[in-house]
Amino acid sequence: MSNQSLCRVCGGTVREFFDFGRQPLSDAFLPPGADLGEEFFYRLATGLCESCTMVQLMEEVPRERMFHQEYPYHSSGSAHMRGHFEELAKRLLTTELAGDDPFVVEVGCNDGVMIKALAEAGVRHLGVEPSGGVADLAAAKGIRVRKSFFEESTAKEIRAADGPADVVYAANTLCHIPYIGSVLSGVAALLAPTGVFVFEDPYLSDIVEQTSFDQIYDEHFFFFTVRSVQAMAAGHGLELVDVERLPVHGGEVRYTLAHAGARRPSPAVAELLAEEDARRLGELDTLRRFGENVLRIRDDLTALLRRLRAEGKRVVAYGATAKSATVTNLCGIGPDLVEFVCDTTPAKQGRLTPGTHIPVVPPEEFSRSYPDYALLFAWNHAAEIMAKEQAFTDSGGQWILYVPSVRTV
Ligand code: SAH
Ligand code: TYD
Ligand code: ZN
Repeated sequence: MSNQSLCRVCGGTVREFFDFGRQPLSDAFLPPGADLGEEFFYRLATGLCESCTMVQLMEEVPRERMFHQEYPYHSSGSAHMRGHFEELAKRLLTTELAGDDPFVVEVGCNDGVMIKALAEAGVRHLGVEPSGGVADLAAAKGIRVRKSFFEESTAKEIRAADGPADVVYAANTLCHIPYIGSVLSGVAALLAPTGVFVFEDPYLSDIVEQTSFDQIYDEHFFFFTVRSVQAMAAGHGLELVDVERLPVHGGEVRYTLAHAGARRPSPAVAELLAEEDARRLGELDTLRRFGENVLRIRDDLTALLRRLRAEGKRVVAYGATAKSATVTNLCGIGPDLVEFVCDTTPAKQGRLTPGTHIPVVPPEEFSRSYPDYALLFAWNHAAEIMAKEQAFTDSGGQWILYVPSVRTV
């Protein structure tokens, strides 16, 4: 165990600021009859690079353990997210993809939630997706999918076969890739001279501001900021030319990179950078304070759940998110405190949550007999879920939230 590692972006020294301890793989839901002694664990800890300020995990989980045929996350599970991606697709069609015979590549297209609209519009496209099950779902929608990890060699093969890309896009995927240097070299080789690399991921500033510590788990290796993305881009002849804050997944930023010098950066880049500096986001003290807030939430949440159990209340959870693995395993929340977790994803139902072994059931179990409290693990989809489950609140039920602090509503 070491509280220092080498930065995956610049090779500088990464100093650890928080240790979540032993954690299971966040999306490894256990099938019935699984040998509970065989679960894979690793040490989840976060650090700050003292050179380029990139926040990153201290230890890497081998990619094949996370992204494979059975990867259970389906991007199309949220109506709100479907709308979000359709809006972006529409915008790209009238801007970056409006030229003659444009070509777009999506890295981590999952079940096709974004690229589907571009495929339907007749745009030349390719989705790159290593998780076989979700890649098959995309292919069944008529999307051209390559089942592989995107890295430098993949990018060069695509360029040789299909020519340069006008847009390379990645949502909630770039932050999943520790070998990011290879990806950026690949993007630089694949992009047309006037092309753009657009990617969106959870924003470190929002995570620190709201103490949304459950954004930290095996799959989320990097936590980007304007400053760290600028440093990362510069190492590959790329430049950050635009940023846009997004109100999804608890707060994200959409970054646009272009070949260095090809486009004039928008004022939004310098504005957000100034905000980050004012918040001292690149400083260890700020991140250590974040760590103290995490421990406060952990203590408040476990105290609340223990009190409710002592009072004989029925408590269940809603949304078997990857994020919730960090919450349940950090707080020690198992089936003794939470009866079940309901979730719409067929591939998660009938299984147990990783590490803490809470049964995952379909949402019908939730409405069959409403509990007193529902712990909202999918808090990033609160508006959509609370609207859909209005009858729960009408029955007198209360939601338990823990970001930015523990409370019931
Ligand atoms: N873009 C979707 C999916 C995000 S989940 C959305 O925003 O909802 C992250 C996806 O990235 C998974 O489907 C995973 O299989 C894929 N992935 C992980 N590493 C990858 C890599 N190196 N290249 C391409 N896709 C990758
Ligand atoms: P999400 O928060 O998008 O991501 P992650 O797993 O990366 O933390 O996951 C949302 C989960 O909640 C997903 O398993 C689907 C489930 N869900 C429902 O059960 N009902 C709903 O109405 C919505 C929107 C999601
Ligand atoms: Zn660095």
